[in-house]
Amino acid sequence: MKNFEFRNPTKLLFGEGQIANIKNEIPSGSKILMAFGGGSIKKNGIYQQVMDALSDYEVIEFGGIEPNPHYETLMKAVEIIREKGVNFIMAVGGGSVIDGVKFISAAAPFTQDDPWKILTDRLGKELKEAIPFGTVLTLPATGSEMNSGAVVTKAATQEKLSFGGPLVFPKFSVLDPNVVASLPERQIANGVTDAFTHVLEQYLTYPADAPLQDRFAEGILQTLIEIGPDIIKDPSNYQAAANFMWCCTMALNGLIQQGVPTDWATHMIGHELTALYNIDHARTLAIIGPNLYRVMFENKKDKLLQYGQRVWGIKEGSEEDRAQEAINKTVEFFHSLGIQTKVSDYTEDYQGTSDIIVKRFEERGWKGLGERADVTLDKVKEIVEMSY
Ligand code: NZQ
Ligand code: ZN
Repeated sequence: MKNFEFRNPTKLLFGEGQIANIKNEIPSGSKILMAFGGGSIKKNGIYQQVMDALSDYEVIEFGGIEPNPHYETLMKAVEIIREKGVNFIMAVGGGSVIDGVKFISAAAPFTQDDPWKILTDRLGKELKEAIPFGTVLTLPATGSEMNSGAVVTKAATQEKLSFGGPLVFPKFSVLDPNVVASLPERQIANGVTDAFTHVLEQYLTYPADAPLQDRFAEGILQTLIEIGPDIIKDPSNYQAAANFMWCCTMALNGLIQQGVPTDWATHMIGHELTALYNIDHARTLAIIGPNLYRVMFENKKDKLLQYGQRVWGIKEGSEEDRAQEAINKTVEFFHSLGIQTKVSDYTEDYQGTSDIIVKRFEERGWKGLGERADVTLDKVKEIVEMSY
């Protein structure tokens, strides 16, 4: 196992009725910016629950944070915060709203001229100040409610970049499984796929003498496989929703990646497909992940065998066949959720995509991704072209 330092300061308030308790977590007298998305919270009652809980505070609303949040939109919130002296932010939404709030929190007190540099120059870890914030999660998927990462898109240039640092962990997050009931099937399938791939990014690498981390990872994968169909069939099934939500949080709150190698190349390539074609984040992972495992097969073979045996019960055949079968099972699982796994399922306009992505990676100096830094530009090209 590798050395590690681990601290996750986010407090969770899990379960039915917990939205009302956010008032116990926010300092009295705070001036709050309440940030949300395109309005789903006004239809499912979450907005009213949050406003009731915040009735003793001065609250300024900021709606309209779009999926894959735009820098341009978020900067409008930054201006409001600076103008009105806001000193606490509540993010009420999915990964996009929470990520957007992480950026707003970092950008509002940022003293250099251009806050976009927080993303291009990866200044997250050097931030001196950030506005404290809490979250009410409405879509289990990203793990953003209990981690310090965020992904922001600049619409003007179609760039999607990430940043993170210790100051942008949420102070607290409410995980009320009742929010799942109003989710469209598309978003539930996305959530299962995103969380599943988060685990694979931290597990499907090479053996690292870390059996506990492996079993945490396999436990999350097995639970997602078990409850995925239940939650799609009936999003109002509270127990299934609770387990779905907990899996998504645990998949990316830092725990399972301690002391082990991590990959993340699927995410880096996938983000480009969202930036270029607006394909839902999770779907880009289902497109790229399996082809990355095929192209990097020799690197991942040992863990593919373990994954195949322990998660999918694959015991028959040669090592080669079993490892390939583990990839096939993964694709079948995504299909069973209604997720399509080719770029051409989402856009007709994909010729030349591999060259665009390779050029962007080259410009950013990303010449070797993955757990062994050997997903080189020619491998990226091969993976993307296999995914058309
Ligand atoms: O905007 P509203 O009206 O709220 O509708 C949203 C949105 O259209 C809707 N929705 C959310 N909760 C709902 C609901 N509809 C009905 N009932 C509810 N309870 O769902 C749509 C998608 O929401 P979004 O927040 O975009 O989805 P998700 O949570 O999948 O977040 C995706 C973003 O997170 C980033 C992705 O790149 C993408 O930008 N990620 C963030 C990560 C992190 N911070 O650690 C890691 C991930 O790998 C990912 O990259
Ligand atoms: Zn993801």
